[in-house]
Amino acid sequence: MEVMFDFAPDPDLPKAERYRQLVGAAAALIADEPDGVANMANVTALMWEFIPDLNWAGFYRVIDGELVLGPFVGRPACIRIAMGAGVCGTAAAEGKTQLVGDVHAFPGHIACDSASQSELVVPVMRDGVVCAVIDLDSPNLSRFDAEDAAGVGALAEILESKI
Ligand code: SME
Repeated sequence: MEVMFDFAPDPDLPKAERYRQLVGAAAALIADEPDGVANMANVTALMWEFIPDLNWAGFYRVIDGELVLGPFVGRPACIRIAMGAGVCGTAAAEGKTQLVGDVHAFPGHIACDSASQSELVVPVMRDGVVCAVIDLDSPNLSRFDAEDAAGVGALAEILESKI
């Protein structure tokens, strides 16, 4: 049977090519859909499929000056995070990607799932201001590198007017 969306990644692809496919799949899924929740939900599902060794993947949105939980895959998480607090709040307040090899060494890290060891948080901009962050957690130490940051950054860019 034909499935509607079949974006299964090839496990042998180099990381950069894997992210290129992830961004392509996301672009195709969000192209004709203006609803931000639908788009964040589908992009979260794609990240979960394309990015190995995660225990949490999803979005926090900036609403009235704080971060509010958005679509995600993983264990139930902190619902509201103050700007500047934890890894997500730091990424949102500074508008800068946070690549954290060991979350226990990050001052103020907010532990939502005790399995998390490393984390990557990438801001999503709209009209020059942060409107959301993409948060990825891994149960492995130092799971994320500059290639992951660049790949998720490319994903964040195509979401700019879509969430
Ligand atoms: N660890 C994050 C909180 C969000 S959860 O990981 C889903 C932080 O320190 O901001």
